[in-house]
Amino acid sequence: MSKEAPPALIRPALLDWYDGHHRDLPWRRDPTPWRVWVSEIMLQQTRVESVIGYFNRFMERFPTPRDLAEAELDELMGYWAGLGYYARARNLHAGATQVVERHGGRVPDDPEAFAALKGVGRYTCGAVQSIAFGRPLSVLDGNVIRVISRLDYVTEDPKLSATNKALWRRADDLLDPDRPGDFNQAMMELGATVCTPRAPKCLLCPLNTHCQVLREGEPESLPMKTKRKKRPQYDVIAALSETEDNRIWLGLRPTSGLLGGLWSLPSVRSEHPDSLAEMGLRCGDEIAQIQHGFTHQVWSVRLYRATGRPQSDQFDRFSAFTVSEIAHLGLAGPSLKALRAAGVKLPHRRGAG
Ligand code: ADE
Repeated sequence: MSKEAPPALIRPALLDWYDGHHRDLPWRRDPTPWRVWVSEIMLQQTRVESVIGYFNRFMERFPTPRDLAEAELDELMGYWAGLGYYARARNLHAGATQVVERHGGRVPDDPEAFAALKGVGRYTCGAVQSIAFGRPLSVLDGNVIRVISRLDYVTEDPKLSATNKALWRRADDLLDPDRPGDFNQAMMELGATVCTPRAPKCLLCPLNTHCQVLREGEPESLPMKTKRKKRPQYDVIAALSETEDNRIWLGLRPTSGLLGGLWSLPSVRSEHPDSLAEMGLRCGDEIAQIQHGFTHQVWSVRLYRATGRPQSDQFDRFSAFTVSEIAHLGLAGPSLKALRAAGVKLPHRRGAG
């Protein structure tokens, strides 16, 4: 066991670097609790560059928790379409509703009350309470795990409960109680821009003189990677069925479950196009084939031209939309891919660019 660098050395080095190098991001310009909350939810599993456009459009439409609470989930999904991990959006909607019901529409300046809201775990609570309210709570996300693992030469799997607890403890110890929000953002920023998974820029790192793995090993080898199990593959048959005036039939998926609350092409899990008959559709030619990976499964989708009006109890309802209407819906990723592969020219979604 070698000695861990003392927080009193890490804090000024990291904060000086952050003060001089941090990115100018919309939620940093005006860090109200609601803006910080929304940004932190969007940033989970998603890179800063992809989030900025979504964030600005979202804030224009839903400037307060009340605006979101009063909106239909369906409309929210249109603003989230393309960001992925849609449970985040459903939870944010539920959390905003609770803020209206329990706190008169104001995000609570109180970690316990905030952590009790839907979708708010330890990370989100620490991030929002430190950045928006200056409360001394730490954060631990993939970036921070990487920074600490390298700084302290942690070779154990960070997904193991004991290692994860130790990493949280170290994040707590390192946290600068005078500038907790900036400190947390600096750790994440360092992980995102300097202490990157591959080809870390150790020469530019403000912590390089304290970094144990840089001294004694190979920074890129940490954090230890868990091997991902092979994801199960499912065959899906989807239908492109149009009305006489060229609108495309889509089904709204039930709120719970994979792709919940999103519109999707009528589809069934099956290898056989005949299965489209279960939805009252007559099957024509195959027009596209795509693969779509989710966190825990992979879909192999074959798209068929079809005729008829779909019906299925696997969907909440079906409606037919024009191509330009579809561009503003929350459309499920596999359906978007399949339509594009079939040559349907969908304008780029709200989030693109
Ligand atoms: N990743 C997630 N939240 C972040 C933040 N506030 N600053 C930098 N990177 C982040």
